[in-house]
Amino acid sequence: MTFEDQVEVTLPTGEKTKIHTGLLINGQFVKSKNGKKFPTVNPANGQVIAEIYEADKADVDDAVQAAKAAYKTWRHVDGAERGKLLSKFADLMDANAKTIAAIETLDQGKLYGISLFHTHASASTLRYYAGLSDKIHGKTMMDTNKFFNYTRHEPYGVTAGIIPWNYPLDMWTMKVGPAIAGGNVIIIKTSEKTPLTGLILGALAKEAGFPDGVIQVLSGFGPTCGQALAEHPEISKIAFTGSGRTGRRILETSAKSNLKKVSLELGGKSPALVFEDADLDLAANVLAGTFYYNNAQTCVASSRIYVQKSVADAFTQKFTAAAQAIKVGSPFAEGVTQGPIVDDLQFNQVLKYIDAGKQEGGKLVLGGNKIAGDGYFIEPTVFSNVPETSKIMTEEIFGPVVCVNTFETEEEVTERANNTTYGLAAGVFTKDLNRAVRVSSNLEAGTIWVNQWLNITPQVPFGGYKESGIGRELGEDALKEWTQIKSVKIAM
Ligand code: NAI
Ligand code: MG
Repeated sequence: MTFEDQVEVTLPTGEKTKIHTGLLINGQFVKSKNGKKFPTVNPANGQVIAEIYEADKADVDDAVQAAKAAYKTWRHVDGAERGKLLSKFADLMDANAKTIAAIETLDQGKLYGISLFHTHASASTLRYYAGLSDKIHGKTMMDTNKFFNYTRHEPYGVTAGIIPWNYPLDMWTMKVGPAIAGGNVIIIKTSEKTPLTGLILGALAKEAGFPDGVIQVLSGFGPTCGQALAEHPEISKIAFTGSGRTGRRILETSAKSNLKKVSLELGGKSPALVFEDADLDLAANVLAGTFYYNNAQTCVASSRIYVQKSVADAFTQKFTAAAQAIKVGSPFAEGVTQGPIVDDLQFNQVLKYIDAGKQEGGKLVLGGNKIAGDGYFIEPTVFSNVPETSKIMTEEIFGPVVCVNTFETEEEVTERANNTTYGLAAGVFTKDLNRAVRVSSNLEAGTIWVNQWLNITPQVPFGGYKESGIGRELGEDALKEWTQIKSVKIAM
């Protein structure tokens, strides 16, 4: 490994650590071919943390050639051996969790404790796929006495993952875990807003013993590096998480290039239904706790809350009190429960939505302002009685702005909840088990939470209905996205 491309940073915890700035191609951290770098910023104070090498088309091609070469050998590596490597990688993540988490907080703005949680959770995802690596089975079929048929679930070969900035560690491991379990080699492009921890994971993958070129990491921008991956004729599969606009672009690009398989996870406008028989304290605390979690930048955020009219005042009061108790500040500080928005672009976009909300006739119940200072901090904001067709009720905001509306009947609220082009998640708060099951089957979303929210685990598939995505991540189902079926038919 070349260490000349590392810079030393002092973390707010006082710890000094070195950060990779190169691209991880063919087992080496290297400079980009054109030598270009870009700054990555600490959203808590707007200061540049480091200048990172920026991948462009030529670097993407280098990575693809290295991946192709690596796959020639990698395709013969046993599932058990792939599992061993993933397992070792997971152990290294756990062992280095404090440093990974501190850098994540510095670059992304997540509270330090939450970064630590997601470091270990991401290691668990790798470990889950380590266990599945040697459990990939086909079927046998005897269709007549003359033929013996069997299926093999084979890798795609050279694959790529393009990931966003809201959960950089989870997104990285949710792509790499099943890709490797399925026998592929993979190139990960991190978000230009949060490139740092992806580079650390690349270094740990190398340390775990993955051969050169099997896992590669590129930092860079969407229209250049991302687009070059989507266009590349020698990449067979791409998995993307991010905005609908970019997801469509990747699908179009795939259609125009080599019809690479595309899986997409594209966010949502997820409805939470709070019925009059719900435990209102639980509903208010769970929804406020999870909505503002991760500085309110979560694809499955319960951004549309519908509460039954008879309990609307009581719920809104409890929910607003819980939101008001949130302490905004440095993500490293004790007692802080909400940190900054990831960068100035997102910050300004969220503020625009708040303005739109004020103009479109919703009632501003709480917050609605930016917080003065150098970082990108916004008050926890609550609107009630929001027009159903308004911008803040229909578009994904990705910031601390939630809408609370009322409903009268189950039928009516189910229809309103489903009246969206999105379908990532939804939830029901009720003590009536029959209603919970009935409403869960009527809601159009890939994940339904009952009397809880945001619980995502490696074992359970995750993905979107409607325009929230194509395909599934996590669970055994994700392996279907990273393998293709070959039928072998033998004459007897
Ligand atoms: P984005 O979709 O532009 O970025 C996500 C990833 O795609 C990044 O790695 C980016 O570099 C890459 N990318 C951008 N353009 C590309 C292209 N033409 N070809 C290939 N890759 C490309 O999202 P962005 O700009 O960071 O955030 C905008 C909005 O997207 C947010 O406000 C939010 O609504 C939504 N979003 C949804 C996420 C989710 O979890 N579903 C995560 C992040 C953002
Ligand atoms: Mg950053």
